[in-house]
Amino acid sequence: MTMLKTVYITLSAALLLAGVQASAQVPVYLDASAPLEDRVEDALSRMTLEEKVKMIHAQSKFSSRGVPRLGIPELWTSDGPHGIRAEAYWDEWNQAGWTNDSCVAFPALTCLAATWSEEMSYLYGKSIGEEALFRGKDVLLGPGVNIYRTPLNGRNFEYMGEDPYLAGEMVVPYIRGVQENGVAVCVKHFALNNHEVNRHNTNVVVDDRTLYEIYLPAFKAAVQKGHAWSVMGSYNLYRNRHASHNRYLLNDILKKEWGFDGAVISDWGATHDTMEAITDGLDLEFGTGTDGLHSSGGNSYDSYHLAFPYLELIRNGTVGTEELDDKVRRVLRLNFRTAMNRDKGFGSLCSEAHYEAARRIGGEGVVLLKNEGNVLPIDFGNPGTKILVVGENAIKMMTVGGGSSSLKVQREISPLEGIRERAGEGVEVLYARGYVGDVTGEYNGVTSGQDLSESRSAAELTQEAVSLAADADYVIFIGGLNKSRNQDCEDSDRKGLGLPYGQDEVISALAEVTDRLVYVNISGNAVAMPWIDEVEAVLQAWYIGSESGHVIADVLSGDTNPSGKLPFTFPARLEDCPAHLLGEYCGERVKDTLDIEYKEGIYVGYRWTDMQKKTRPLFAFGHGLSYTDFSYGKPVIDSRKMDRDGSVTVSVDVTNTGKRAGKEIVQLYISDLKSSLPRPVKELKGFRKVSLEPGETATVSFTIGSESLCFFDPASHSWVVEPGKFEAVIASSSDDIRGKAVFEVVE
Ligand code: GLC
Repeated sequence: MTMLKTVYITLSAALLLAGVQASAQVPVYLDASAPLEDRVEDALSRMTLEEKVKMIHAQSKFSSRGVPRLGIPELWTSDGPHGIRAEAYWDEWNQAGWTNDSCVAFPALTCLAATWSEEMSYLYGKSIGEEALFRGKDVLLGPGVNIYRTPLNGRNFEYMGEDPYLAGEMVVPYIRGVQENGVAVCVKHFALNNHEVNRHNTNVVVDDRTLYEIYLPAFKAAVQKGHAWSVMGSYNLYRNRHASHNRYLLNDILKKEWGFDGAVISDWGATHDTMEAITDGLDLEFGTGTDGLHSSGGNSYDSYHLAFPYLELIRNGTVGTEELDDKVRRVLRLNFRTAMNRDKGFGSLCSEAHYEAARRIGGEGVVLLKNEGNVLPIDFGNPGTKILVVGENAIKMMTVGGGSSSLKVQREISPLEGIRERAGEGVEVLYARGYVGDVTGEYNGVTSGQDLSESRSAAELTQEAVSLAADADYVIFIGGLNKSRNQDCEDSDRKGLGLPYGQDEVISALAEVTDRLVYVNISGNAVAMPWIDEVEAVLQAWYIGSESGHVIADVLSGDTNPSGKLPFTFPARLEDCPAHLLGEYCGERVKDTLDIEYKEGIYVGYRWTDMQKKTRPLFAFGHGLSYTDFSYGKPVIDSRKMDRDGSVTVSVDVTNTGKRAGKEIVQLYISDLKSSLPRPVKELKGFRKVSLEPGETATVSFTIGSESLCFFDPASHSWVVEPGKFEAVIASSSDDIRGKAVFEVVE
């Protein structure tokens, strides 16, 4: 063996030994192969008191500090549920004017909920998670799952509707998709943030049964099935304590009952009390109403409740460090799952795959509410066809505005652009403004760049639209709401159920001169439609984001067969909504704490309308038509009896009896025919979206166990299944029942 080789081998052995010794000296918290809890404990043991306190509050508008000495990085958060917000200045809300932070705007979460498709939900989470990862974000501030209690709530568009089961089932795949990227979700706003006016000072008064059966289940699913890594406390109060430091919601329910091991992050400015912040469940304080670098002595992030004030209380012996260590453990766990997650990739931004995902999700979420005489789909390829598009929402950008979910998009295809792009040779697409809504287009320094100014009067605009409509083959009115204040916008609610800006008058005027009038409603909320009998077709088109125009054209032209169903009820009148008829709602801003009692209790949405004899909703929860038809066979149950721990399986054949492929959402509701406590007529406990070719039949089965039959018993503080008869109700919507099967729970 040559000398050289000997030296080489000796050197290699020495390096190997050194390497082994070196790897043996890698601290556990830096060892990605070590169990998470070992890494957490090791890091905690190495941190000083000051480092611990610095880790549990913000250091900038959207970031919190790590431990530089130990190589533990900062945590970066970003809004929002529909896309990754533009980079802001260190300590401001305004965007910093970067040129590489434009994003894809995915459809609003009401649209996702309206797909009733776990596949779309996972695709959504995966895609938006990739955008967050690429942008270096560790925590995505979303999704929101607050229950749709009133159609006036300015933020309903960010949430998943009125039914806790639908919201719970739809939020889980989104969470999985996001977190598989090594990005945490921050499920919000926990809890009872069901309107925006007085959101900071509303004390929600709600009974336990309603809380557990209606307002908590979607959050519980997010935590227990979705394994959300963080949860955002809301602004409002519950039992007179702010939700972001609330022992009942955070300590008793979220962490003890549900076993949540992640971090509770306050909403921005939702922390109001140092001692409660220490003892009542808050782990990471953000946005505490200070302008950290400009308006107060030093860096006022140190004046946060969980900053110097907390450190002072520890140093003077007023409080111990047990709560501190628990908070730091949770923030470290969040950090190891995200910023220090070595398995995560690089993500992607504005990829064609993401635009395709946005278009698919939108296409599955648009809801065909009415289609008299099958006026839809429109043949966009028939030369000589004249189409008139009317309405400000046909041209107005909807991704700018609405509050913290506002985005700086790389592109947004307007409905008019989408329709014009789809129109074939010889098909003429005209446009008339019809009405003037909100001509602004700016939020936190992001501007739409559109000049929507208009000098003509309402009468002139109506006259123009009507005269053009008279000789058009189709008139498509694209209206609804927008993202300005008192529309679909954070920190404000609508003042009424009706359409704003005089749209009703224009729609009725158009209906006089055409019998092919299609109304496309762009909104995140139900709206009143006094002209519903004068209009042949109605589409609920949501806020679809970057691909809005493509999706609307896809559906109008029939390239996409609509398959969405409503995730919330469209009441005919506001007073048909129980929150306004029975419950309390206050639309006026007040200064002091305001009790709002949810007197309607569990009877939210269809749970209420099912009990009404005289009033019917304009459109029911779960309603949505197709360009084809479906027939249902008789439901078949495999057993008439089950014990509490058992189950029964109900099956039903669904057939596409029409001439084109389509998707149907089969819904399972459960009726408890006899119970010791009053229960709704029926409650959604299952759904399945099936895709069927013409003539094709699918057998859809639902296995029903106790979790579908129980109710929350406040007296025993437990979920109870009582013996007795139940009905499995198979339906195409909450007001379109296709069959029932009775079964009995036996002792
Ligand atoms: C806002 C919203 C919350 C958002 C946060 C940061 O006030 O309530 O949803 O994530 O502040 O922008």
